[in-house]
Amino acid sequence: MFGRKADNPSLSEDVVLKALATVIEPELHRDLVSLNMIRNLKLDGNDVIFTIMLTTPACPLRGKMESDARAALARVPGVGRVTINWDANVPSDRRIGDQIGQNFRNTIAVSSGKGGVGKTTIAVNLAIALAMEGARVGLLDADILGPNVPMMMGRDQMPPPRDRKMVPAENFGVKFISMAFLVKPDQPLIWRGPMLHSAIRQLLTDVEWGELDYLVVDLPPGTGDAQLTLAQVVPLSGAIVITQPMQVAAADATRGLKTFEKLDVPIIGIIENMSGDFFGTGAGEQLATTYKTPYLGSVPLDANVRVGGDSGEPIVVAHPDSAAALALRQIARDVAARVSVLTIEAQSAQFIPIQMINAGLGLWWRRFLSCVLRRYGGQRHRIRILCHTELWQVATQPLFPV
Ligand SMILES: Nc1ncnc2c1ncn2[C@@H]1O[C@H](COP(=O)(O)OP(=O)(O)O)[C@@H](O)[C@H]1O
Ligand SMILES: [Mg+2]
Repeated sequence: MFGRKADNPSLSEDVVLKALATVIEPELHRDLVSLNMIRNLKLDGNDVIFTIMLTTPACPLRGKMESDARAALARVPGVGRVTINWDANVPSDRRIGDQIGQNFRNTIAVSSGKGGVGKTTIAVNLAIALAMEGARVGLLDADILGPNVPMMMGRDQMPPPRDRKMVPAENFGVKFISMAFLVKPDQPLIWRGPMLHSAIRQLLTDVEWGELDYLVVDLPPGTGDAQLTLAQVVPLSGAIVITQPMQVAAADATRGLKTFEKLDVPIIGIIENMSGDFFGTGAGEQLATTYKTPYLGSVPLDANVRVGGDSGEPIVVAHPDSAAALALRQIARDVAARVSVLTIEAQSAQFIPIQMINAGLGLWWRRFLSCVLRRYGGQRHRIRILCHTELWQVATQPLFPV
C-alpha cells in the first residue's frame, strides 16, 4: 500500500520530519518531533500519513497542533494529501504507583474552603467529561462524613467484592467508590483523624481500580484532616480549588490554596461555580490573579445542574449542549492539559540523592533544606524534598521556559 514513489524525488520521511520539527506543542513549548509525539510516519507517493501521540485524549489544543502541522507540511514541495491520526499516552506520575501500588497515572484533588459551593457537582461532571474524551477515569469520594458521589452518579450500591478487594461501582464510563456504599444512609459517622486516615487509605488501596489515567478525588469541605491525610497517603498530581463568585467565598477558597501550597501540592487552577446574575461573577478570576494561579473558568448557576445532581444524571450527560455542560467539558480539557504539564515537569526533576548517616545529621539537613526551600521555593526552581526511611532526596528542577 505504501509502495508508491513520490513525484518529487527529494520528498522523504526525513524531510517531512524536519518540517514537523518546526511545530511547537503549545503547552510544553517544545517541538512535536523532539517530544516524540510523531509516530508511524509513512509516505505513500506524495501523501503523508502519521499519528500525533498526545499527552491526554482530552487535549484542548489538538486543533491548533493539526493546523500548525498542516501549515508546516504545506511548505514542503511535493507533499500531497496529509492524513493525521490521533492517539494519547497520558504521562504517569510514578510516585503514585511507588507509594500505594495502584496504577493511577495522575491524581486530581477537587477541594473548596467550605461546603455547598458545588465541589462534588464539579468533581462528578469533570470525571464524566474526562471519560467522554476517552480517558480512563476513577472518582474517589473522600468526603467520608458527607458522601454524595453515589447519589450524583446514580448508583447506590457497589458490586460484590472480588478476591477480598472492593470493586468500584461504574456509571457514565467512570469507576467510583464512596463511604456511602459501606454505611447505612441514616447511620451517623462520628470519626476522628486516625479513622478518617485509615478509611481514605482503604478506599485507595483495597479497591480493584485497574489502570486509570486520572483519579479524581472529591475532598470534604475545608482544610482539615482529610486534605492532610490524602496528601500523605497518595501523591497528588495537583489540586483544583472551587469557589463561588462572591468575595466572602473567595476568602474561604484562599485557605484551600494555602493548604495545598503548604503540602507542596501544585494548584491546577481555580473554578468559579454558580456564576451569573444571582451570585455575581468575578471572584474566582480575581483570586487566580492574586495568587498567580491558572483560572480554569466559570460554571453558571443553572437549575438543571442541581436537578442533574439530585436525579443521578449529571448535566454533562443530561443536557450536553447547555452552557454549564459546555463550560465543564472545556474545563475538563484544560485540567487534563495542565495535569500533563505538571506531571512531565515533576518527572523531569533532577534528583540529587543525599545519603543520611545518622538521625542527628538528618535534623541538621532538615534545617538546611527548609532554609533552601524558603529561599528558592516558588521562584525559578522548584525544590522538592522527599523523605524516605534512610534517604533524603532533593529535586531541583528549572521550570519550563515560558
Ligand atoms: N452551577 C450550579 N447551578 C445550580 N446548582 C448547583 C450548581 N453547582 C452545584 N449546585 C447545587 O448546589 C448544591 C451543593 O452542591 P455540592 O456539589 O453538593 O456542593 P459541595 O460538594 O461543595 O458541598 C447541590 O444541590 C448542587 O446540585
Ligand atoms: Mg460534597
